[in-house]
Amino acid sequence: MAPEDHEGATSLLQSFERRFLAARALPSFPWQSLEEKLKDPSGSELLLAILQKTVKHPVCVQHGPSVKYARCFLSKLIKKPSGNSVTLSESTAIVSHGTTGLVTWDAALYLAEWAIENPAVFTNRTILELGSGAGLTGLAICKACYPRAYVFSDCHAQVLEQLRGNVLLNGFSLDPHTPIDAGSPKVTVAQLDWDEVTASQLSAFQADVVIAADVLYCWEVTLSLVRVLKMLAHCQRKNTADFYVAYTIRSQDTGKLFITELDRAGFSWEEVPPHTGKLFPYEEQSTIVILKIMLTARHGV
Ligand SMILES: C[S@@+](CC[C@H](N)C(=O)[O-])C[C@H]1O[C@@H](n2cnc3c(N)ncnc32)[C@H](O)[C@@H]1O
Repeated sequence: MAPEDHEGATSLLQSFERRFLAARALPSFPWQSLEEKLKDPSGSELLLAILQKTVKHPVCVQHGPSVKYARCFLSKLIKKPSGNSVTLSESTAIVSHGTTGLVTWDAALYLAEWAIENPAVFTNRTILELGSGAGLTGLAICKACYPRAYVFSDCHAQVLEQLRGNVLLNGFSLDPHTPIDAGSPKVTVAQLDWDEVTASQLSAFQADVVIAADVLYCWEVTLSLVRVLKMLAHCQRKNTADFYVAYTIRSQDTGKLFITELDRAGFSWEEVPPHTGKLFPYEEQSTIVILKIMLTARHGV
């Protein structure tokens, strides 16, 4: 850190410490300067230092301000680093607890990049994500594309638990009674199994856009997904919803069954042109495609 940056960080730290120990009103804290400083690569160190000088301060541990005050302070602080980055807790194993949903797959990163380059698809709309896994795509969309509401979903208990944690980690509330900041979406996490979900459950989401990443990895899963698409097409009360699915071509058969089933059901679909901006680290050589499927009830669906 350059000497002048170090000086700036030290005085910011002192300012937080003094205000917190004096239990000053939270809006009087230098949040704006903190936001600026957090753009530096050493931002996370500064956050840790602020924690040590406030809620974890020895004086505070013994004679701290009220729990309510400390909680409000922490929730404001937690929202700061989340800015335009996504923080995730995930497994290091590709398959663990009998599911593939505890890690982020390349198609999820690819779909997030595409969404960031095409925010208008999501802005002010209600999005339903199927098989959200760790939640990266949805969190990126919630932060960069201003949807009105975002429904993460998955079928697996452990995946759902991790997903809820990741939503909170990124500063979104799952409490239906918490007022939502202007420009922030209403976020929910739903237990939704494609083999069990009913048309009325799907209808209740009233999704304008449905998305999924890396969910065509075996034929049973593909057929279950097409069943859900057929139900969605039937239960759409609004005119149309679009379904965007991203998948990695792992063999020459990947996606073939899905396309055959889409055609058989009479769905219109097209391949979405690739985006240009690469933001996330993923396998350069892998071929990933995004299909857009129009969820309108047509002949045969
Ligand atoms: C390969 S992971 C992809 C996760 C995430 N979309 C990503 O790309 O990182 C597949 C996800 O689909 C979910 N899934 C598989 N079968 C499902 C079903 N029948 N109903 C709902 N979700 C299912 C799994 O729990 C898992 O989270």
